[in-house]
Amino acid sequence: MADLSLRKVKKVYDNTVVAVQAFDLEIADKEFIVLVGPSGCGKSTTLRMVAGLEEITDGEIYIGGRKVNTVSPKDRDIAMVFQNYALYPHMTVYDNIAYGLKLRKFPKRVIDQKVREAAEILDITELLKRKPKALSGGQRQRVAIGRAIVREPQVFLMDEPLSNLDAKLRNQMRSEIIKLRQKVNTTFIYVTHDQTEAMTLGDRIVIMRDGFVQQVGTPQEVFHHPANLFVAGFIGTPQMNIFDARLVREGERYFVAVGEGAAAHTVELSPEKQARLRACGVESQPVKLGLRPEHLTLTESDDAVYAAVDVSEMMGSAVHIHVSACGQDVVIVVPLSEEEDGEALPMGTPVRFTFRGSAAHVFDVETGRNLEYPIARESEPEAPAGEEQGPAEKPAAPTEEAPPAPEGIPERETLDDPFAEDDGQEG
Ligand SMILES: Nc1ncnc2c1ncn2[C@@H]1O[C@H](COP(=O)(O)OP(=O)(O)OP(=O)(O)O)[C@@H](O)[C@H]1O
Ligand SMILES: [Mg+2]
Repeated sequence: MADLSLRKVKKVYDNTVVAVQAFDLEIADKEFIVLVGPSGCGKSTTLRMVAGLEEITDGEIYIGGRKVNTVSPKDRDIAMVFQNYALYPHMTVYDNIAYGLKLRKFPKRVIDQKVREAAEILDITELLKRKPKALSGGQRQRVAIGRAIVREPQVFLMDEPLSNLDAKLRNQMRSEIIKLRQKVNTTFIYVTHDQTEAMTLGDRIVIMRDGFVQQVGTPQEVFHHPANLFVAGFIGTPQMNIFDARLVREGERYFVAVGEGAAAHTVELSPEKQARLRACGVESQPVKLGLRPEHLTLTESDDAVYAAVDVSEMMGSAVHIHVSACGQDVVIVVPLSEEEDGEALPMGTPVRFTFRGSAAHVFDVETGRNLEYPIARESEPEAPAGEEQGPAEKPAAPTEEAPPAPEGIPERETLDDPFAEDDGQEG
Protein backbone atom coordinates (compact mmCIF):
# COMPACT_ATOMS: atom_id res chain seq x y z
CA MET A 1 0.00 0.00 0.00
CA ALA A 2 1.47 3.30 -1.04
CA ASP A 3 0.82 6.61 -2.67
CA LEU A 4 2.72 7.52 -5.81
CA SER A 5 3.91 10.76 -7.22
CA LEU A 6 5.06 11.33 -10.78
CA ARG A 7 6.58 14.75 -11.30
CA LYS A 8 7.42 16.12 -14.73
CA VAL A 9 8.36 12.64 -15.84
CA LYS A 10 9.82 12.43 -19.31
CA LYS A 11 11.12 9.61 -21.46
CA VAL A 12 13.19 9.98 -24.59
CA TYR A 13 14.32 6.77 -26.28
CA ASP A 14 17.68 6.81 -28.06
CA ASN A 15 17.88 10.61 -27.80
CA THR A 16 15.23 10.83 -30.50
CA VAL A 17 11.84 9.25 -29.72
CA VAL A 18 9.97 11.34 -27.15
CA ALA A 19 7.60 8.76 -25.66
CA VAL A 20 6.33 10.60 -22.56
CA GLN A 21 6.43 14.29 -21.65
CA ALA A 22 5.66 16.38 -18.58
CA PHE A 23 3.77 13.55 -16.90
CA ASP A 24 2.45 14.92 -13.59
CA LEU A 25 0.23 12.80 -11.40
CA GLU A 26 -0.39 12.30 -7.70
CA ILE A 27 -1.87 8.87 -6.96
CA ALA A 28 -3.46 8.29 -3.56
CA ASP A 29 -2.89 5.16 -1.51
CA LYS A 30 -5.24 2.37 -2.71
CA GLU A 31 -6.38 4.36 -5.69
CA PHE A 32 -7.13 2.57 -8.98
CA ILE A 33 -5.65 4.61 -11.81
CA VAL A 34 -6.16 3.69 -15.45
CA LEU A 35 -3.88 4.96 -18.20
CA VAL A 36 -5.74 4.94 -21.49
CA GLY A 37 -4.99 6.17 -24.99
CA PRO A 38 -4.32 5.00 -28.54
CA SER A 39 -1.41 2.78 -29.52
CA GLY A 40 1.97 4.42 -29.08
CA CYS A 41 0.79 7.21 -26.76
CA GLY A 42 3.23 6.23 -24.01
CA LYS A 43 1.15 4.12 -21.62
CA SER A 44 3.52 1.15 -21.33
CA THR A 45 6.51 3.45 -21.16
CA THR A 46 4.96 5.30 -18.21
CA LEU A 47 4.17 2.05 -16.43
CA ARG A 48 7.64 0.65 -17.08
CA MET A 49 9.21 3.79 -15.65
CA VAL A 50 7.17 3.32 -12.47
CA ALA A 51 8.31 -0.31 -12.38
CA GLY A 52 11.92 0.68 -12.90
CA LEU A 53 12.21 -1.30 -16.12
CA GLU A 54 12.85 1.88 -18.09
CA GLU A 55 15.22 4.65 -17.10
CA ILE A 56 13.65 8.07 -16.58
CA THR A 57 15.07 10.76 -18.85
CA ASP A 58 13.81 13.59 -16.68
CA GLY A 59 11.58 14.17 -13.66
CA GLU A 60 10.99 12.26 -10.44
CA ILE A 61 8.99 9.26 -9.29
CA TYR A 62 8.12 8.71 -5.63
CA ILE A 63 6.56 5.55 -4.18
CA GLY A 64 5.35 5.80 -0.60
CA GLY A 65 7.24 9.08 -0.22
CA ARG A 66 10.55 7.56 -1.32
CA LYS A 67 12.23 8.78 -4.48
CA VAL A 68 12.82 5.71 -6.63
CA ASN A 69 14.46 7.13 -9.77
CA THR A 70 17.53 4.96 -9.28
CA VAL A 71 16.00 2.14 -7.21
CA SER A 72 16.07 -1.23 -9.00
CA PRO A 73 12.76 -2.93 -9.91
CA LYS A 74 13.05 -5.63 -7.26
CA ASP A 75 13.51 -3.02 -4.52
CA ARG A 76 10.46 -0.96 -5.48
CA ASP A 77 7.94 -3.29 -3.85
CA ILE A 78 5.72 -3.52 -6.92
CA ALA A 79 4.30 -6.37 -8.93
CA MET A 80 3.55 -6.20 -12.60
CA VAL A 81 1.28 -8.25 -14.83
CA PHE A 82 2.40 -7.94 -18.44
CA GLN A 83 0.27 -8.06 -21.54
CA ASN A 84 1.97 -11.26 -22.65
CA TYR A 85 1.81 -12.96 -19.31
CA ALA A 86 4.06 -15.95 -19.39
CA LEU A 87 3.66 -19.07 -17.29
CA TYR A 88 6.24 -21.83 -16.91
CA PRO A 89 4.73 -24.60 -19.05
CA HIS A 90 6.43 -27.45 -17.18
CA MET A 91 5.28 -26.28 -13.72
CA THR A 92 1.89 -26.74 -12.11
CA VAL A 93 -0.30 -23.75 -11.37
CA TYR A 94 0.76 -24.04 -7.73
CA ASP A 95 4.45 -23.89 -8.57
CA ASN A 96 3.93 -21.05 -11.03
CA ILE A 97 2.35 -18.97 -8.30
CA ALA A 98 4.86 -20.06 -5.65
CA TYR A 99 7.91 -19.54 -7.82
CA GLY A 100 8.76 -15.94 -6.90
CA LEU A 101 8.35 -16.72 -3.20
CA LYS A 102 10.61 -19.76 -3.45
CA LEU A 103 13.29 -17.62 -5.06
CA ARG A 104 12.99 -15.27 -2.14
CA LYS A 105 13.48 -18.23 0.20
CA PHE A 106 10.18 -17.90 2.02
CA PRO A 107 9.46 -20.84 4.40
CA LYS A 108 7.40 -23.61 2.79
CA ARG A 109 4.51 -23.11 5.21
CA VAL A 110 4.25 -19.38 4.40
CA ILE A 111 4.41 -20.06 0.68
CA ASP A 112 1.67 -22.64 0.94
CA GLN A 113 -0.58 -20.26 2.83
CA LYS A 114 -0.04 -17.38 0.41
CA VAL A 115 -0.56 -19.53 -2.69
CA ARG A 116 -3.79 -20.96 -1.30
CA GLU A 117 -5.07 -17.53 -0.32
CA ALA A 118 -4.33 -16.15 -3.79
CA ALA A 119 -5.95 -19.17 -5.43
CA GLU A 120 -9.01 -18.67 -3.26
CA ILE A 121 -9.30 -15.00 -4.24
CA LEU A 122 -8.96 -15.87 -7.93
CA ASP A 123 -11.16 -18.94 -7.74
CA ILE A 124 -8.52 -21.31 -9.14
CA THR A 125 -8.04 -23.58 -6.11
CA GLU A 126 -9.23 -26.64 -8.02
CA LEU A 127 -6.69 -25.91 -10.77
CA LEU A 128 -3.57 -25.81 -8.60
CA LYS A 129 -2.32 -29.23 -9.72
CA ARG A 130 -2.80 -28.57 -13.43
CA LYS A 131 -0.21 -27.44 -15.95
CA PRO A 132 -0.83 -24.21 -17.91
CA LYS A 133 -1.61 -26.02 -21.17
CA ALA A 134 -4.67 -27.53 -19.49
CA LEU A 135 -6.12 -24.10 -18.71
CA SER A 136 -8.34 -21.68 -20.60
CA GLY A 137 -7.01 -18.24 -21.49
CA GLY A 138 -8.87 -16.62 -18.63
CA GLN A 139 -7.61 -19.20 -16.15
CA ARG A 140 -4.02 -18.65 -17.29
CA GLN A 141 -4.59 -14.96 -16.88
CA ARG A 142 -5.72 -15.51 -13.32
CA VAL A 143 -2.63 -17.60 -12.58
CA ALA A 144 -0.46 -14.74 -13.87
CA ILE A 145 -2.34 -12.35 -11.59
CA GLY A 146 -1.93 -14.86 -8.74
CA ARG A 147 1.83 -14.72 -9.12
CA ALA A 148 1.65 -10.96 -8.69
CA ILE A 149 -0.76 -11.10 -5.73
CA VAL A 150 1.40 -13.37 -3.58
CA ARG A 151 4.10 -10.73 -3.51
CA GLU A 152 1.71 -8.48 -1.59
CA PRO A 153 3.19 -5.48 -3.35
CA GLN A 154 2.75 -1.84 -2.43
CA VAL A 155 1.74 -1.12 -6.00
CA PHE A 156 0.15 -3.34 -8.61
CA LEU A 157 0.96 -2.54 -12.23
CA MET A 158 -1.01 -4.13 -15.05
CA ASP A 159 -0.23 -3.58 -18.72
CA GLU A 160 -3.21 -4.54 -20.90
CA PRO A 161 -3.67 -7.77 -18.94
CA LEU A 162 -6.89 -8.65 -20.77
CA SER A 163 -6.09 -7.66 -24.32
CA ASN A 164 -5.47 -11.12 -25.67
CA LEU A 165 -8.69 -12.58 -24.37
CA ASP A 166 -11.84 -12.75 -26.45
CA ALA A 167 -14.61 -10.24 -25.77
CA LYS A 168 -16.67 -12.46 -23.48
CA LEU A 169 -13.74 -13.57 -21.37
CA ARG A 170 -12.51 -10.00 -21.21
CA ASN A 171 -15.82 -8.85 -19.75
CA GLN A 172 -15.70 -11.68 -17.24
CA MET A 173 -12.10 -10.92 -16.22
CA ARG A 174 -12.96 -7.25 -15.96
CA SER A 175 -15.45 -8.02 -13.22
CA GLU A 176 -12.88 -10.38 -11.64
CA ILE A 177 -10.47 -7.46 -11.45
CA ILE A 178 -13.13 -5.29 -9.83
CA LYS A 179 -13.63 -8.02 -7.22
CA LEU A 180 -9.90 -8.55 -6.84
CA ARG A 181 -9.48 -4.89 -6.19
CA GLN A 182 -11.89 -5.11 -3.25
CA LYS A 183 -10.00 -8.04 -1.75
CA VAL A 184 -6.44 -6.89 -2.39
CA ASN A 185 -6.21 -3.52 -0.81
CA THR A 186 -3.43 -1.87 -2.74
CA THR A 187 -2.66 0.85 -5.26
CA PHE A 188 -3.28 -0.10 -8.89
CA ILE A 189 -2.04 1.41 -12.13
CA TYR A 190 -3.73 -0.28 -15.03
CA VAL A 191 -2.99 0.28 -18.71
CA THR A 192 -5.51 -0.27 -21.48
CA HIS A 193 -6.45 1.16 -24.84
CA ASP A 194 -10.07 0.16 -24.26
CA GLN A 195 -12.11 3.08 -22.99
CA THR A 196 -14.87 0.81 -21.66
CA GLU A 197 -12.33 -0.97 -19.49
CA ALA A 198 -11.00 2.39 -18.35
CA MET A 199 -14.46 3.72 -17.49
CA THR A 200 -15.53 0.64 -15.55
CA LEU A 201 -12.31 0.03 -13.60
CA GLY A 202 -10.78 3.39 -12.82
CA ASP A 203 -11.29 5.62 -9.81
CA ARG A 204 -9.57 8.11 -12.07
CA ILE A 205 -8.60 7.87 -15.69
CA VAL A 206 -5.53 9.39 -17.32
CA ILE A 207 -6.10 9.96 -21.02
CA MET A 208 -2.87 10.16 -23.01
CA ARG A 209 -2.03 11.11 -26.56
CA ASP A 210 1.38 11.37 -28.23
CA GLY A 211 3.18 11.24 -24.89
CA PHE A 212 1.10 14.01 -23.34
CA VAL A 213 -1.56 13.72 -20.66
CA GLN A 214 -4.79 15.12 -22.11
CA GLN A 215 -6.97 14.92 -19.02
CA VAL A 216 -7.07 13.31 -15.59
CA GLY A 217 -10.44 12.75 -13.97
CA THR A 218 -13.08 10.40 -12.67
CA PRO A 219 -15.03 8.48 -15.31
CA GLN A 220 -17.91 10.95 -14.89
CA GLU A 221 -15.66 13.98 -15.25
CA VAL A 222 -14.01 12.85 -18.45
CA PHE A 223 -17.34 11.74 -19.88
CA HIS A 224 -19.35 14.83 -18.98
CA HIS A 225 -16.58 17.41 -19.14
CA PRO A 226 -14.04 16.33 -21.76
CA ALA A 227 -11.14 18.78 -21.74
CA ASN A 228 -10.76 18.74 -25.50
CA LEU A 229 -12.00 17.21 -28.74
CA PHE A 230 -9.60 14.29 -28.45
CA VAL A 231 -10.94 13.19 -25.06
CA ALA A 232 -14.49 13.83 -26.25
CA GLY A 233 -13.99 11.47 -29.17
CA PHE A 234 -12.03 8.87 -27.24
CA ILE A 235 -14.36 8.40 -24.29
CA GLY A 236 -17.85 7.03 -24.93
CA THR A 237 -19.30 4.66 -27.51
CA PRO A 238 -20.64 5.29 -30.06
CA GLN A 239 -18.36 8.28 -30.49
CA MET A 240 -19.53 11.79 -29.81
CA ASN A 241 -20.92 13.56 -32.91
CA ILE A 242 -19.00 16.72 -33.80
CA PHE A 243 -20.71 19.54 -35.74
CA ASP A 244 -19.49 22.82 -37.17
CA ALA A 245 -21.66 25.27 -35.30
CA ARG A 246 -21.80 28.81 -33.95
CA LEU A 247 -21.67 29.88 -30.35
CA VAL A 248 -23.77 33.02 -29.88
CA ARG A 249 -23.45 35.22 -26.84
CA GLU A 250 -26.32 37.63 -26.10
CA GLY A 251 -25.39 39.55 -23.00
CA GLU A 252 -25.27 36.98 -20.23
CA ARG A 253 -26.79 34.19 -22.30
CA TYR A 254 -25.23 31.67 -24.65
CA PHE A 255 -26.77 29.71 -27.53
CA VAL A 256 -25.46 27.24 -30.06
CA ALA A 257 -26.72 27.23 -33.64
CA VAL A 258 -26.32 24.17 -35.88
CA GLY A 259 -27.10 24.23 -39.58
CA GLU A 260 -27.09 26.91 -42.24
CA GLY A 261 -28.85 30.31 -42.22
CA ALA A 262 -32.60 30.25 -41.70
CA ALA A 263 -32.60 26.47 -41.25
CA ALA A 264 -30.25 26.69 -38.27
CA HIS A 265 -31.43 25.03 -35.07
CA THR A 266 -30.66 27.15 -32.02
CA VAL A 267 -30.51 25.81 -28.47
CA GLU A 268 -29.79 27.75 -25.31
CA LEU A 269 -27.03 26.25 -23.19
CA SER A 270 -27.76 25.09 -19.65
CA PRO A 271 -27.31 27.65 -16.84
CA GLU A 272 -24.19 25.80 -15.56
CA LYS A 273 -22.58 25.89 -18.97
CA GLN A 274 -23.48 29.54 -19.44
CA ALA A 275 -21.93 30.38 -16.08
CA ARG A 276 -18.68 28.63 -16.95
CA LEU A 277 -18.46 30.28 -20.37
CA ARG A 278 -19.13 33.68 -18.77
CA ALA A 279 -16.42 33.02 -16.20
CA CYS A 280 -13.99 32.35 -19.04
CA GLY A 281 -15.12 35.49 -20.91
CA VAL A 282 -16.01 33.48 -24.01
CA GLU A 283 -17.50 35.56 -26.85
CA SER A 284 -19.54 34.62 -29.94
CA GLN A 285 -17.49 32.50 -32.33
CA PRO A 286 -17.57 29.51 -34.64
CA VAL A 287 -17.16 26.33 -32.61
CA LYS A 288 -16.97 22.57 -32.86
CA LEU A 289 -20.14 21.38 -31.17
CA GLY A 290 -20.01 17.94 -29.53
CA LEU A 291 -23.24 15.98 -28.97
CA ARG A 292 -23.24 12.40 -27.74
CA PRO A 293 -25.42 9.99 -29.76
CA GLU A 294 -27.46 9.15 -26.65
CA HIS A 295 -28.17 12.86 -26.07
CA LEU A 296 -29.83 13.42 -29.45
CA THR A 297 -33.58 12.96 -29.46
CA LEU A 298 -35.91 12.54 -32.41
CA THR A 299 -38.64 15.16 -32.52
CA GLU A 300 -41.73 16.12 -34.50
CA SER A 301 -41.02 19.82 -34.02
CA ASP A 302 -40.05 22.00 -37.00
CA ASP A 303 -37.42 23.68 -34.86
CA ALA A 304 -34.84 20.91 -35.15
CA VAL A 305 -31.95 19.61 -37.20
CA TYR A 306 -33.20 17.93 -40.39
CA ALA A 307 -31.66 14.61 -41.32
CA ALA A 308 -32.15 11.55 -43.53
CA VAL A 309 -31.70 7.98 -42.33
CA ASP A 310 -28.80 6.02 -43.81
CA VAL A 311 -29.07 2.86 -41.80
CA SER A 312 -30.46 1.80 -38.45
CA GLU A 313 -28.78 -0.84 -36.33
CA MET A 314 -30.77 -2.84 -33.84
CA MET A 315 -28.68 -3.25 -30.69
CA GLY A 316 -31.27 -4.95 -28.50
CA SER A 317 -31.81 -2.33 -25.82
CA ALA A 318 -31.44 0.54 -28.29
CA VAL A 319 -31.46 1.41 -31.96
CA HIS A 320 -28.44 3.20 -33.39
CA ILE A 321 -29.74 5.36 -36.21
CA HIS A 322 -27.10 6.61 -38.63
CA VAL A 323 -28.30 9.71 -40.41
CA SER A 324 -26.94 12.38 -42.72
CA ALA A 325 -27.32 15.87 -41.33
CA CYS A 326 -25.48 19.12 -42.01
CA GLY A 327 -23.49 17.28 -44.70
CA GLN A 328 -22.05 14.68 -42.35
CA ASP A 329 -22.71 11.33 -40.71
CA VAL A 330 -24.44 11.51 -37.35
CA VAL A 331 -25.37 8.71 -34.97
CA ILE A 332 -28.49 8.88 -32.81
CA VAL A 333 -29.06 6.33 -30.06
CA VAL A 334 -32.74 5.70 -29.38
CA PRO A 335 -33.30 3.58 -26.28
CA LEU A 336 -36.04 0.96 -26.47
CA SER A 337 -38.36 -0.04 -23.69
CA GLU A 338 -39.17 -3.72 -23.25
CA GLU A 339 -42.43 -3.49 -25.22
CA GLU A 340 -40.89 -1.74 -28.18
CA ASP A 341 -39.67 -3.74 -31.14
CA GLY A 342 -37.71 -0.86 -32.59
CA GLU A 343 -38.56 -1.45 -36.22
CA ALA A 344 -35.82 -0.33 -38.57
CA LEU A 345 -36.34 2.97 -40.38
CA PRO A 346 -35.84 2.54 -44.13
CA MET A 347 -32.98 4.37 -45.78
CA GLY A 348 -33.86 7.89 -46.80
CA THR A 349 -36.56 8.36 -44.13
CA PRO A 350 -36.59 12.05 -43.15
CA VAL A 351 -36.16 12.61 -39.41
CA ARG A 352 -35.56 15.60 -37.17
CA PHE A 353 -33.55 15.72 -34.00
CA THR A 354 -32.82 18.09 -31.20
CA PHE A 355 -30.79 18.16 -27.98
CA ARG A 356 -30.73 19.79 -24.59
CA GLY A 357 -28.51 22.69 -23.69
CA SER A 358 -26.92 20.62 -20.93
CA ALA A 359 -25.72 18.06 -23.50
CA ALA A 360 -23.87 20.50 -25.76
CA HIS A 361 -20.07 20.62 -25.57
CA VAL A 362 -18.39 23.56 -27.27
CA PHE A 363 -14.79 23.34 -28.41
CA ASP A 364 -12.36 25.87 -29.86
CA VAL A 365 -12.16 25.42 -33.63
CA GLU A 366 -8.38 25.89 -33.72
CA THR A 367 -7.13 24.07 -30.63
CA GLY A 368 -10.01 21.70 -29.84
CA ARG A 369 -10.00 22.96 -26.24
CA ASN A 370 -13.28 22.79 -24.34
CA LEU A 371 -14.33 26.45 -24.04
CA GLU A 372 -15.82 25.86 -20.59
CA TYR A 373 -12.32 25.35 -19.19
CA PRO A 374 -10.20 28.35 -18.35
CA ILE A 375 -7.04 28.50 -20.42
CA ALA A 376 -4.71 26.69 -18.06
CA ARG A 377 -1.67 24.60 -18.67
CA GLU A 378 -2.47 22.75 -21.86
CA SER A 379 -1.69 19.31 -20.51
CA GLU A 380 -3.88 19.21 -17.46
CA PRO A 381 -6.82 21.60 -17.25
CA GLU A 382 -8.64 22.31 -14.03
CA ALA A 383 -11.90 20.42 -13.70
CA PRO A 384 -14.83 22.79 -13.99
CA ALA A 385 -16.26 23.45 -10.57
CA GLY A 386 -19.76 23.77 -9.29
CA GLU A 387 -21.66 21.19 -11.29
CA GLU A 388 -23.37 18.33 -9.60
CA GLN A 389 -22.52 15.06 -11.27
CA GLY A 390 -25.44 12.96 -12.39
CA PRO A 391 -25.19 9.19 -12.43
CA ALA A 392 -22.51 8.04 -14.81
CA GLU A 393 -23.80 7.23 -18.24
CA LYS A 394 -21.86 4.08 -18.86
CA PRO A 395 -20.79 3.63 -22.43
CA ALA A 396 -22.09 0.58 -24.22
CA ALA A 397 -19.88 -2.48 -24.23
CA PRO A 398 -17.63 -2.73 -27.25
CA THR A 399 -19.26 -4.75 -29.99
CA GLU A 400 -16.23 -5.73 -31.99
CA GLU A 401 -14.76 -9.10 -31.25
CA ALA A 402 -11.20 -9.25 -30.04
CA PRO A 403 -8.90 -11.83 -31.56
CA PRO A 404 -9.04 -15.15 -29.72
CA ALA A 405 -6.52 -15.98 -27.03
CA PRO A 406 -3.31 -17.39 -28.44
CA GLU A 407 -2.92 -21.13 -28.38
CA GLY A 408 0.71 -21.58 -27.54
CA ILE A 409 2.42 -20.96 -24.25
CA PRO A 410 5.17 -18.38 -24.46
CA GLU A 411 8.76 -19.43 -24.77
CA ARG A 412 11.06 -19.81 -21.82
CA GLU A 413 13.15 -16.71 -22.55
CA THR A 414 10.18 -14.38 -22.06
CA LEU A 415 9.83 -15.60 -18.53
CA ASP A 416 12.67 -13.76 -16.85
CA ASP A 417 11.22 -11.97 -13.93
CA PRO A 418 12.74 -8.57 -13.31
CA PHE A 419 11.13 -8.35 -9.89
CA ALA A 420 12.64 -11.57 -8.58
CA GLU A 421 15.75 -11.67 -6.43
CA ASP A 422 17.36 -14.22 -8.68
CA ASP A 423 17.92 -14.28 -12.43
CA GLY A 424 14.96 -16.54 -13.02
CA GLN A 425 16.76 -19.86 -13.06
CA GLU A 426 14.74 -22.64 -11.65
CA GLY A 427 15.80 -23.62 -8.15
N1 LIG B 1 12.60 0.65 -26.65
C1 LIG B 1 12.15 1.64 -27.42
N2 LIG B 1 12.96 2.32 -28.24
C2 LIG B 1 12.50 3.33 -29.02
N3 LIG B 1 11.21 3.75 -29.02
C3 LIG B 1 10.36 3.12 -28.24
C4 LIG B 1 10.75 2.02 -27.38
N4 LIG B 1 9.66 1.59 -26.71
C5 LIG B 1 8.63 2.37 -27.11
N5 LIG B 1 9.04 3.29 -28.02
C6 LIG B 1 8.21 4.33 -28.64
O1 LIG B 1 7.66 5.14 -27.62
C7 LIG B 1 6.33 5.48 -27.90
C8 LIG B 1 5.42 5.02 -26.75
O2 LIG B 1 5.45 3.61 -26.70
P1 LIG B 1 4.62 2.79 -25.63
O3 LIG B 1 5.01 1.38 -25.74
O4 LIG B 1 4.76 3.45 -24.32
O5 LIG B 1 3.13 3.00 -26.18
P2 LIG B 1 1.75 2.41 -25.64
O6 LIG B 1 0.89 3.57 -25.32
O7 LIG B 1 2.00 1.41 -24.59
O8 LIG B 1 1.17 1.71 -26.95
P3 LIG B 1 0.40 0.31 -27.14
O9 LIG B 1 -1.06 0.59 -26.85
O10 LIG B 1 0.58 0.01 -28.61
O11 LIG B 1 1.01 -0.72 -26.25
C9 LIG B 1 6.00 4.85 -29.23
O12 LIG B 1 6.18 5.82 -30.23
C10 LIG B 1 7.02 3.75 -29.36
O13 LIG B 1 7.32 3.50 -30.71
MG1 LIG C 1 1.74 -0.71 -24.46
